[in-house]
Amino acid sequence: MGKLEEKTVVLGIGGGIAAYKSADLVRRLVAEGASVRVAMTRAACRFITPLTLQALSGGRVASDLLDLGEEAEIGHIALAQSADAVLVAPATANLIARMAAGMADDVVTALCLATRAPVVVAPSMNAMMLDHAAVGTNIERLRSFGYRIAAPDSGELACGIEGPGRLPDARVLIHELTAALSDQDMEGLHVLVSAGPTREPLDPVRYLSNRSSGRMGYAVAAAALRRGARVSLVSGPSTLEPPRDCELINVETAAEMNEAMRGRVTAADIVVMVAAVADYRPVGPKTSKIKKSKAALSLPLEATEDVLAGLARSRGDRILVGFAAETEDLADNAREKLLRKNLDLIVANDVSVEGQGFDSPTNSALLIDRDGSEERTGVLAKED
Ligand code: CTP
Repeated sequence: MGKLEEKTVVLGIGGGIAAYKSADLVRRLVAEGASVRVAMTRAACRFITPLTLQALSGGRVASDLLDLGEEAEIGHIALAQSADAVLVAPATANLIARMAAGMADDVVTALCLATRAPVVVAPSMNAMMLDHAAVGTNIERLRSFGYRIAAPDSGELACGIEGPGRLPDARVLIHELTAALSDQDMEGLHVLVSAGPTREPLDPVRYLSNRSSGRMGYAVAAAALRRGARVSLVSGPSTLEPPRDCELINVETAAEMNEAMRGRVTAADIVVMVAAVADYRPVGPKTSKIKKSKAALSLPLEATEDVLAGLARSRGDRILVGFAAETEDLADNAREKLLRKNLDLIVANDVSVEGQGFDSPTNSALLIDRDGSEERTGVLAKED
């Protein structure tokens, strides 16, 4: 299921160069299940045509507040009322100023005044303009209205200079929208999440690892962020893009993961140990490459530290959540781990089922808490 299923998103497009990206943005919103309606400022229509956005959104684009025909059919009030969320992207310095002043001189500003849906604003402009106190003050004013501000990315800007001011990726804007649509019921909580595999070196070129991709842990981190938590993500090697706005700590071995988790646990209210930590590591990894020979090779292994069990020993009143990756006797093994590691909740998944678990966007889990209550999630997107 898409992240914006059954949601109406009204996209307000401002007249900045990044307006050209709104065509892709509309497609991505639609792909997440949203029903998308588009409103454009007059300047935006000079960067990208309403016709393009109409074709992609499948609905009439509102661009002129005073066009009777248009108003009769949609009307900025009806548009504002239809919205589950409003996304203003790109928001230029001019558009931000008009929104901050409470003006209603075009269809986008009027829409923002008339709606009571959450509003996400994605400022995008030249870095010097963004840096000006006037823009900063106006952005703060939008924040004081309860609008959510998607921080601009840094990089090469259309004007040729490097700096902050780029419109973030559609992926980031979608995350901001889902956050704006979620209850902020984890606000004030600090969640510490571990994710991914560990790598245990054998020699300078080889290691022992496992098939974990980091997807489940990154999804837990993204979900906690969406609900307003502060998140620290301790990640083994992963090719995934980390969620924005989390503290990311990259580690490689089980020992490094242990150290990183122990160093941060006292600040955490909730610990979710999703990482697939190696249980064994080669004894005394070689400093030069092991050469091939005809003889069979045995590798002496030693046990690594159990990170989660260690954290549980000085748990205080924080909540500890473990995962259990099993290929047989799912419930019994998970119950045994819950007790042995002294956890509040264990998320058991059968990793032998094709298409779920390792490196898949979905998972199906059995949740068991310390009182013994159980719940089967059925197949869900990992973030759900
Ligand atoms: N875990 C850990 N440190 C380890 C091994 C596992 O913190 N060295 C954590 C995992 O992150 C997970 C939970 O313990 O949250 C259970 O991991 P799992 O691999 O399912 O179980 P193990 O305890 O390793 O037992 P086994 O491999 O025998 O199933």
